[in-house]
Amino acid sequence: MGCRSLAELVAVIGSAPPAGSKHLRRAKAVSAAGAVALCVAGGAAAETCGPGKGVPDSLKYVQYFLSRPQDAAGCAMTVVNGRLAVQAPVTNPALTCPDMFAWKLFAEAVAAEFWKTWATDQETWPGNGLPSDPGRPLALCAPGQTGPNCCNPDSATNPGYDDPAYKAKWCPYFPGDHASTLAQGLPERVGVLPSKAHMLSFAGSPRVREILLQDVHVRRLMTEHSGQTEGRKIRQAMAELVFRNKSLFDYVFRNELYHQEGLLKVVARNDDNIASAAPYRLSNDRGAVAEIVFPADAVMIKTNWLARERAEEMGVHDDPEHPYVKMNITSPVTDNNGTILKPGEHWLVAFHISSKDIPNWVWATFEHVNNPGRCDYTGCNDSYGYGSRDRVAAGQASNYTRPHEVCDDLPLPSWVLDPGKTYPAGVRRAPLDAVFRALRIGTRENTTLVPTPEDRAWLSYELKGSQVEFTDSMGRAVHAGNSVTEAGFVSTSSCMTCHARASVASDGAKPPALRLPALGVFENVLTDSGYLPSSLGLPVADWFNRNAQPPSLLALQTDFVWGFLAANSSKPPAGPGVISARTTQPGAGAFFSLRERILGE
Ligand code: HEC
Repeated sequence: MGCRSLAELVAVIGSAPPAGSKHLRRAKAVSAAGAVALCVAGGAAAETCGPGKGVPDSLKYVQYFLSRPQDAAGCAMTVVNGRLAVQAPVTNPALTCPDMFAWKLFAEAVAAEFWKTWATDQETWPGNGLPSDPGRPLALCAPGQTGPNCCNPDSATNPGYDDPAYKAKWCPYFPGDHASTLAQGLPERVGVLPSKAHMLSFAGSPRVREILLQDVHVRRLMTEHSGQTEGRKIRQAMAELVFRNKSLFDYVFRNELYHQEGLLKVVARNDDNIASAAPYRLSNDRGAVAEIVFPADAVMIKTNWLARERAEEMGVHDDPEHPYVKMNITSPVTDNNGTILKPGEHWLVAFHISSKDIPNWVWATFEHVNNPGRCDYTGCNDSYGYGSRDRVAAGQASNYTRPHEVCDDLPLPSWVLDPGKTYPAGVRRAPLDAVFRALRIGTRENTTLVPTPEDRAWLSYELKGSQVEFTDSMGRAVHAGNSVTEAGFVSTSSCMTCHARASVASDGAKPPALRLPALGVFENVLTDSGYLPSSLGLPVADWFNRNAQPPSLLALQTDFVWGFLAANSSKPPAGPGVISARTTQPGAGAFFSLRERILGE
């Protein structure tokens, strides 16, 4: 029989998925039909390429190096008293079972209702309100000092907390600490446009492109900016929300890392330390850190949402079999300024989760199953949550879904990648099903625009891959990238390497200003498409310290957190020597701040 997905499917049927599940229906039909033809070929190449020739598929060797199962044998977890417990013999699940661990992070974050209770970028870094009234971060209160002109991490009422429109105008604000306001529903979530780092890939599909070109608005945008691609235009439709848990938020708040001058102090301490106290390090005590090191329980989630109207214009429809998680988000309308805000229904298309369970963070990325090109370039690799639909032989592992390929049909033909198509949903394995069931994740329909942990829609997302090392044990660079958020550079994307470059520096002027970021998001390297690539593999020590004596500081790592790009100056705008948090160009708003800082747009 040879189709191992079937065994898993039977396991799923045994544990009764929610009524109406495609798996269930398909499984019943298939078991009745004698069970063999269930596995849809993923990207499996046919045997021949070219007129009557059996041209070998050389891409399969590239994929062989990407297909290694990440989890060791024996990775298992169960729910004990509402909490996930990893079972023996595993003692370090983040490294031994990265895929299982990614699902553990997923389940815990969903159960914690991160979208409601955790702080967004704009709440972690104050002063990111509307351009007409953005606010500005106030200094941290000295011990014993109480307001009104400073922020106190132990106070329930800091300046601005009573502002109904934007509570973090002056001080960081954690929604979960204000449960009474939360009881009234969802805090207003304001999405930002994603940085150029993150382009939507839906335009990659010829069908979607055709539909888009029928759209007057999109056509106008494309002709007005003919040098730019559709993908770059379409990403305007995306709203991005980054959430940080209390541990991460607290570290930023208590160490005064929520504004540029606070970060500049850390840079100065670090540089002084090298010059005056090497080889010894400062003790890095709270309130006077010389290096940014988040606590082990810090977690951050980046979510990407598509406005319903834009989705439909792009030919992306809600799918009753795989519904989207839906939320009401106020997002900038595509008016080229991004400052006109429109509340409305948004669909979750992709998200990243990172946790500080290991020093270089655990990186995991999830996609809605219908995302076109979901497993393109690298393939999808999940050895815990969902089994691949690729047709594999008995005795072969079911973790890997290979990318679609096609024959180029040239006189001397080759197999090439065939991007932009969808991939069939995987088969939920029994262990994940049991975890979801015990935590009641994905057990109910939700027709409101406030997500709940029970939403059946959470079953529409699959792990594309997880990353816990820069390279594998043989030195090969680890690849990980999402078809939506890393569209345009999926083949070079390495979450860990790009995030290692997240850094700040002093500009060396007197008085010094903060250079934010100190290193670019991309490498200055040519690619076939022209989109700049991510850094891949090991970081380079010379990025961070001068290759000389003394090795003075060039770029202070912000512990893999790019979100510091959202930090504003606590000084009045355009103060001498201070890089203004937001551009002085008329019409440009705070919602562009990340993009402006990355690209100088
Ligand atoms: C080429 C660079 C690059 C790559 C590759 C990359 N990211 Fe990021 N990431 C960024 C930038 C820049 C930001 C901040 C701006 C934004 O949110 O768009 C960010 C933000 C994030 C955040 C929000 C927390 C933060 O750092 O402030 C998470 C979580 C995240 N990325 C996870 C991932 C994961 C997981 C992957 C791999 C699947 C990945 N990233 C790949 C550049 C990158």
